[in-house]
Amino acid sequence: MCGIFAYSGDENAPTLLINGLRNLEYRGYDSAWLIAINKNGEYIYERAVGRVSNLATNIEKKCKEWNIFNTGIAHTRWATHWWVTKLNSHPHHSQNNRFFIVHNGIIENYKELKKELESKKYTFYSDTDTEIIANLIQDEFEIDLKTTIEKIIKKLVWAYALVAIDTKNPNEIIGVKLGSPMIVWTSENWVFISSDINALSQVAKEFTILEDFEFVVIKDKHFSIFSSWEKIEKKSQEINSEELKSELGSFEYYTEKEIFDIPEVIENVFSGRINFAEKKIVNETLLELNEYEIERVEIIASWSSYFAGQVGTYYFKDLAWIPASITISSEFLCDNFILDKKALYIFLSQSWETADVRESLKIVKEKGWLTFWIVNVVGSSIARLADMGLFCHAGVEIGVASTKNVIAQISILLLMSMSMGLKRNLQYSEARFLIEEIELLNNAINKVLSQEKKIQEIAKKYAHYSHFFFLWRNLLYPVAWEASLKLKELSYIHSEAYSTWELKHWPLALVWPEFPCIVINPKGTFYHKNISNIKEIQARNGKILGIITEKNQEADLYDDTIEIPEISERLSPFPILTALYLFSYYVAKDLWREIDKPRNLAKSVTVE
Ligand code: AGP
Ligand code: GLU
Repeated sequence: MCGIFAYSGDENAPTLLINGLRNLEYRGYDSAWLIAINKNGEYIYERAVGRVSNLATNIEKKCKEWNIFNTGIAHTRWATHWWVTKLNSHPHHSQNNRFFIVHNGIIENYKELKKELESKKYTFYSDTDTEIIANLIQDEFEIDLKTTIEKIIKKLVWAYALVAIDTKNPNEIIGVKLGSPMIVWTSENWVFISSDINALSQVAKEFTILEDFEFVVIKDKHFSIFSSWEKIEKKSQEINSEELKSELGSFEYYTEKEIFDIPEVIENVFSGRINFAEKKIVNETLLELNEYEIERVEIIASWSSYFAGQVGTYYFKDLAWIPASITISSEFLCDNFILDKKALYIFLSQSWETADVRESLKIVKEKGWLTFWIVNVVGSSIARLADMGLFCHAGVEIGVASTKNVIAQISILLLMSMSMGLKRNLQYSEARFLIEEIELLNNAINKVLSQEKKIQEIAKKYAHYSHFFFLWRNLLYPVAWEASLKLKELSYIHSEAYSTWELKHWPLALVWPEFPCIVINPKGTFYHKNISNIKEIQARNGKILGIITEKNQEADLYDDTIEIPEISERLSPFPILTALYLFSYYVAKDLWREIDKPRNLAKSVTVE
């Protein structure tokens, strides 16, 4: 949430700041703002409600001699405090217009701090918690900006990533963080600060990740890092920019592209971890994991990652015979933490910084129990905190609604369950069979993707409904939930997911011709039971879109169908999710939604 960007170098700061903000826009798109300053302390600033493109248009008009502004800070906002207005946009400045700051996070005690400042005759032009920080800096200023910020952060109740400049000392930028992320990028000619890895991965090669309470001080293209007032040396890391490349190509939206990336993601997750010729899992991390005595698996994640994790719990029970459960990360934090030292705690996050996942991980880590991460972003704080883990290798996901990442997470959980199963009761012949099926999985997915036109037509037919049920049971139950979430998120249509078994308990009360049910009913264990449930829906005049196996003889039972190729039940989540992702995408497209940036959302949730 919120993208922070800063630059110090010889080049044209406003252009670079705008480019950086464009890459961070998926972190928040309520408003955008920037300030650029030159060596004499002259500055320009501009803000715009809405997209970065609005800011770009405004700044172009305003600024004729861009080359003179060689330092600047910028922000793309996801509002936590009060309205989305020009005045609430960052950077915020102190009352005397001397100090400018950008902030990612929430200052929980801002009301008390505001009162304190008001009693000292400070007035406020915005409603935000962030403006308080700018005035605290003015109020407590002493010696220099860094010393002052060191002093004031003791008063702030998290979370923050904060970047500030003092217009009287225009060559210096100060950054500090607690909870929210901050990355420093360097080369001989410039230093950048950004909130995440995607902002600069195509331009820069080396980056340093700041830990909580570390400060970065940038002076004339050079930077130093301080921890507890001491200057420290930190090793920079290199990035594989190819992995982080994301070009839209001929696709209209990133979400669409990312659904079509699914076969490549499957390839990336499994190749290198499975030796398909020898039908063996060959991953070092999974081998190491098998050295631990694990009696239970607990997965902690949020929303899409939660549903991926829930599919994982079925795999752990089915393939590894290990009791497995899942808790939504926000609730885990409110729990009594009855932790179990024989359990493996798995943390899933498509981004790298979901606040509730990260805080849950800290709690388990403090106890000293075994922790495992599954994330997609290199340099992730979750990955740095946990004992071991695996990357999704799903590539950058720009669409705020996660699609290909969910598929990668499910793939990794499948692989982990197989590997842990082989140490327990899973027969080698069964694992071998599954590996053969995984090798062919992309045939099924490509077949689904090739039905895009048909799925688009069906989506058009269903786009005008206001409510949907997604129905299935067992392994496909979390798939139904995930599909329902994607429909809500992309199209703003209300939908819920239930087990078909549950229908009679109450959901049938809502069923009528204007409340269609999407029944996921491929061939398999529950096929016939679901047929009975379908009849129950039809007896109430309910409309049914069936997700069924191709060449199904009973296809005419449904009002409409989307067909998926025949595949084993264990692997059925993959083509079914692909089909339902396409369905939701096309419904949203038909409704002219802003598909890559659904209203009010942001790609990563860094605040509570
Ligand atoms: C996914 O489509 C959603 N936008 C969102 O609910 C997401 O799943 C959730 O915020 C968890 O994110 P994470 O995987 O990055 O931790
Ligand atoms: N709390 C600040 C605001 O409302 C920053 C928001 C954020 O980081 O998401 O503007």
